[in-house]
Amino acid sequence: MVNEKEKKMVDAKCVIVALDFSDAGEVLALVSGLEPNSCRLKVGKELYTHCGPALVERLVADGFDVFLDLKFHDIPNTVAGACGAAADLGVWMVNVHALGGRRMMEAAREAIAQKSHQPLLIAVTILTSMGESDLHEIGLSGSAKANVLRLAKLAEQSGLNGVVCSPLEVAVLNQQCAEEFNFITPGIRPAGAAVNDQKRITTPVDALSLGSNYLVIGRPITAAADPLAALQAINSDIQGAFNLST
Ligand code: C5P
Repeated sequence: MVNEKEKKMVDAKCVIVALDFSDAGEVLALVSGLEPNSCRLKVGKELYTHCGPALVERLVADGFDVFLDLKFHDIPNTVAGACGAAADLGVWMVNVHALGGRRMMEAAREAIAQKSHQPLLIAVTILTSMGESDLHEIGLSGSAKANVLRLAKLAEQSGLNGVVCSPLEVAVLNQQCAEEFNFITPGIRPAGAAVNDQKRITTPVDALSLGSNYLVIGRPITAAADPLAALQAINSDIQGAFNLST
């Protein structure tokens, strides 16, 4: 399968390993076997709440690009301050909820623009855990897909660099958004890997073919007997499919 719009180059370091752990020791043991030039890392709410900024700074100091996945959602001034703090930590990417609105996203963008190190600023649209009845209950009419598209466009208009979304939403969003807008997609499973609790999955190569720029992959790498070999197998599939030089 070839990226329909042929509009994006595949990044040889497109795999973001989700560090869904609560313990710094486990994380450091895992990442000591990974190379900063073969993957990026994602630190989410659980790990950050347990280990704080010191662990993020350590991963950055070790040379890794870190996606700080804290999904900020608050008044514009507060989110701007939090995004500025993320920039000071040296992270590569940080995210906010698009449901915080245009002014919140613009304030975040402006706070980052004032920093010497400027992470990519990404929006979460609709959480994939929300079904249509959940959306209607909180007052959002229309389908989940329509809400995702509307919020992705709002994020783009607010100057953000991309959205987190399902690989199955990427093709439509790809048609509607500018070439430089990024799509970060979880729900990825190499062929034959355990599905775990994911509902709708896509292989790494198919997700990139659909237009994803970065793939968030957790357990297929972190729970593997040999995480480095699991990552290398994924990277090798990607390199083969897109003729990337190693
Ligand atoms: O282990 P697995 O590959 O399923 O991990 C996927 C990662 O992506 C987890 O950190 C999960 O919280 C995150 N994620 C997701 N689905 C979303 C948004 C984030 O799986 N819609």
